[in-house]
Amino acid sequence: MTHFVPPYPERPKEPLKLLALMATARRNFLAVFDEKCFEYQFFSTRVLNRKVFVCNSPDTVAQAFIALHESFQRKTPQMRHALSPLLGDGLFISDGDLWRHRRRIVAPIVHVSRLKLFAPTMVEAAQETAERWAALPDGAPIDALRDMATLTAEIICRTIFGPRLGAEHATEIVAAFSAYQREVAQLDLPYMLGLPDWVPRFQAPSVYRAAKRIDRVLDDLIRRCEERLASGDQSMIQMLLEARDPETGGRLDRRALRNEAAVIFMAGHETTANSLAWTWFLLSQAPDVEARLHAELAETLGGRVPNLDDVPRLVYTRAVFEEAIRLYPPVPLLGRQALRDESIRNRKIAAGSLLVVIPWLLHRHRQLWDQPDHFIPERFLPENAAARQRYSYIPFSVGPRVCAGQAFGMTEAILCLATLAQQVTLKLAPGAVVEPTCRLTLRPGDTLPMLVHHRPSRAAPRVSSASAENEVSRSASETAEIPGP
Ligand code: HEM
Repeated sequence: MTHFVPPYPERPKEPLKLLALMATARRNFLAVFDEKCFEYQFFSTRVLNRKVFVCNSPDTVAQAFIALHESFQRKTPQMRHALSPLLGDGLFISDGDLWRHRRRIVAPIVHVSRLKLFAPTMVEAAQETAERWAALPDGAPIDALRDMATLTAEIICRTIFGPRLGAEHATEIVAAFSAYQREVAQLDLPYMLGLPDWVPRFQAPSVYRAAKRIDRVLDDLIRRCEERLASGDQSMIQMLLEARDPETGGRLDRRALRNEAAVIFMAGHETTANSLAWTWFLLSQAPDVEARLHAELAETLGGRVPNLDDVPRLVYTRAVFEEAIRLYPPVPLLGRQALRDESIRNRKIAAGSLLVVIPWLLHRHRQLWDQPDHFIPERFLPENAAARQRYSYIPFSVGPRVCAGQAFGMTEAILCLATLAQQVTLKLAPGAVVEPTCRLTLRPGDTLPMLVHHRPSRAAPRVSSASAENEVSRSASETAEIPGP
């Protein structure tokens, strides 16, 4: 089998000087790394008045994010200032006791044990996308990035707000969040210039307008969810309304509930959408991989719609997705600010310094991966797992702040791929340019133009939500563990 090298931004020959670095980072942050950055294990660099430490080896990642979690739990000022108008004190950008309290409430709601409830919604929404594509003529153009964003937004909205409200309002919510992302500043210049954290930061008025719009939509939806509490709809909002902190017995007040709903939507929507779009692109460039994927789907599912029980059996489908998020981690940079003086590999890290782990570098590190820039899903097959070093692969981060929705995201991706790839193949549209671009998340550009081709053996006709649920609840085990990386 010949493996191909999917695109990555051109790498500078030498480390960039400050002005070039700032200009390049503004255009595409992934383009600032020269070849050497894929070999270093632990290094530091200065950006304006701030020192930034980069943990780029399994041991330094584990030390910062696990052993020294208490010191490196705080998100960067840039992340906190960019997201606070949107998420308030939501757990994604909080730390300390508040973060612990929110995490104890939110994590069980998106936990693997809830998948039995949410998996039918994932399959149903994927079937609706398949139906939309099936109605198109063979070879019709689509924007795979937009279609995956719509699909994952449908799924997360229906799970957060219940099947009815979620389906009715998904488009509105996506539009409001996208407007916010477009407007928000990506760089906290005052911090980089050395100003302390307490100096107030200002975003453009359009950012606050976009945040207000999100507030209105979320408040309205939460109120309507409360009114429907007796309707029997099972939604994450309902679970959040009823949840109590297992340690303190405390509940979420109205504002906290709104903030955590915003966190779950933001964290769970674009990450999965981008990684599914990348997977379609990679499959379109690797006919051998695509053929092996189709063979597994045919053998395991035989044309029927997948369910939660199938997920552990779809090992090659999982490997394809895992390789896609190795090459294109949806969150390519994990940033923290030191809360106190620390040292890693005998180097002092002063309180207030920035420390980053960059999955984009770590996942393509020369000492950790064979043919690091090649697309080789086989490396993720169970028989090859022993060859991989722990903490060399961290698309969901590691340690106490690991992605709370890891099992949700993996299961969603596998079920969507298995549903759709049985029915269509997607080819890259002629002339389409795919360029890894990093905003808050890593995406294949602003659009991903592809052509839909119908496959001769289509999956069985769509099942209704009720029958899919029955099928899953009959067979899925409550405690099924979805192994992580
Ligand atoms: C392929 C899909 C996904 C990827 C690659 C991903 C990745 C990540 C990463 C890297 C973080 C840590 C960010 C940081 O430390 O700065 C994170 C946090 C988080 N993710 Fe995900 N995520 C995915 C899907 C989801 C889904 C579907 C949900 C919810 C249903 C979710 C919920 C969360 C939450 C709540 C956090 C915050 C955890 C905390 O700070 O304690 N994620 N995710």
